Amino acid sequence: MILNLPKAPMIDLSRNADGSSDVRAFARDVAEGLSREQKRLPSRYFYDAAGSELFRQIMELPEYYLTRSEFELLTQHRKNITEHFTKEGFFHLIDLGAGDAFKTKILLKELSHQQHAFDYVPVDISGDAMQQLTNSLQQELPDVQVQAVVGEYAQALEWLQVHKSERKVVLFLGSNIGNFDADEGLAFLSSIRGYLDKGDQLLMGVDLRKDPDTILLAYDDSSGTTAAFNLNLLHRINRELGGNFDLEQFRHYALYDPQEGVMRSFLISQQQQQVYLRSLDRSYTFAAWEAVHTENSRKYTMNQVQGLGQQSGFRTDTIFQDERRYFADVLFTAV
Ligand code: AVJ
Repeated sequence: MILNLPKAPMIDLSRNADGSSDVRAFARDVAEGLSREQKRLPSRYFYDAAGSELFRQIMELPEYYLTRSEFELLTQHRKNITEHFTKEGFFHLIDLGAGDAFKTKILLKELSHQQHAFDYVPVDISGDAMQQLTNSLQQELPDVQVQAVVGEYAQALEWLQVHKSERKVVLFLGSNIGNFDADEGLAFLSSIRGYLDKGDQLLMGVDLRKDPDTILLAYDDSSGTTAAFNLNLLHRINRELGGNFDLEQFRHYALYDPQEGVMRSFLISQQQQQVYLRSLDRSYTFAAWEAVHTENSRKYTMNQVQGLGQQSGFRTDTIFQDERRYFADVLFTAV
């Protein structure tokens, strides 16, 4: 069934009109973060080509239980989940932060088998990832209509705006919500809700509270892959902003706060040093053992997740969990 006009396989909202990527925003955010009393760098800049590849490796680490748990629960509950999606005919399946869509493909296969009318809109900041995904879906699931969007979440919301009043199911998997502070997460879900109609759905993946040692190891693995992922941020600054960070002089440090349920990652300067960024023509001083905060990964209680949904205009429909109850995919319906 063809319900859509022919369309470009990929929309790139991440680039300027002249095709350049927005290095100015990166420069501005780095300058702002390194000028603070407590230095920080935003975690969304992890995902350049090298960082995306490192994250793929993280997902395969024995310690990084998140991906396997979510894969397991999606496999286990795929029939039930897709039945919820397809109750009312054609829908857009929008996948925020799709990456290689390793997990979403479970649902796509199921939907495609059942010959449901839908199209798939993966959104990701990595243009490479979206190109590869578009190609691989053409091979593996040629019947699925794909319209990839390259851009940040805020830009993806513009897509939702354009398709207002068409039925939507939004996927926000992989505990990506965990990178937001509590108030940012609420604001983000509320803004998604603003682009949905009553009855539209959101399937959100969250990592749950568990033994703090299990959580800590997932972010401080024995192979050093997570350390490399964190340090790659300095690499990227060197490459894109003409920095001279000496990566040997910084180390990855991860810490879990079991009361707040927040995993925090830092880069620690192992000695007093100065770093010059050519594109900003500025130097930054790092004291010995000074820490730069790079990421929060939030772990939720069931009450917190449901409260988050409720406060942003959703009702909790069904909660899907893996056998060990490490992870949950929560199906929300817009009210
Ligand atoms: C992609 C944001 C879900 O926070 O677990 C993995 C990123 N950081 N290891 C997470 C990440 C360090 C990941 N998310």
